[in-house]
Amino acid sequence: MSKTTKGAESGEAAEVMQRQERRRITLTLNGRERSGYCEPRELLSDFLRHELGATGTHVGCEHGVCGACTVRVDGVAARSCLMLAVQAEDRAIDTVEGQAPAEGLSDLQEAFRRHHALQCGFCTAGILMSCADYLERVPEPSEAQVRDMLSGHLCRCTGYTPIVAAVLDVAAIRARARHAAAGVVAEEACDA
Ligand code: FES
Ligand code: FES
Repeated sequence: MSKTTKGAESGEAAEVMQRQERRRITLTLNGRERSGYCEPRELLSDFLRHELGATGTHVGCEHGVCGACTVRVDGVAARSCLMLAVQAEDRAIDTVEGQAPAEGLSDLQEAFRRHHALQCGFCTAGILMSCADYLERVPEPSEAQVRDMLSGHLCRCTGYTPIVAAVLDVAAIRARARHAAAGVVAEEACDA
């Protein structure tokens, strides 16, 4: 057998072994059940991008520092570069692709646009996912709290000020809507 044939066979064998090592996992991505194959050591960020095509999740440092890869895992913001894809099995994963409603943008995305809170946009998907989680847990944050939350993200373009303004703007708009709804309920209770 020639050296070339032997080399091709061992290459094929390695490929077959690699395929066998890959494991099929199923998760819920932005509300839809999705399945794909991953190696046991594959990062969730790579699985989302390369296997499921969810390239809105960006990868910067790949060691948990920059925040670009942030997604929500069962609603909680998490670095997808610090998680293995196999750990996401049967979990609900939300990425920036799922943030906007069927038509238009989410209120956070609109506010980022209004306040010019992005330039190159590399950090933006991760920041939006963190902000979405944070505002659900802390609906009326102070500026200091927003800055503290954003300290988990690196943005090389904006200087952060417009991002802070956008987050505070959304918090204020949501608070006004909540208070107005509470007022209507209170009025209805008085009339009853
Ligand atoms: S790529 Fe995950 S934190 Fe930087
Ligand atoms: S907008 Fe460029 S890194 Fe944040």
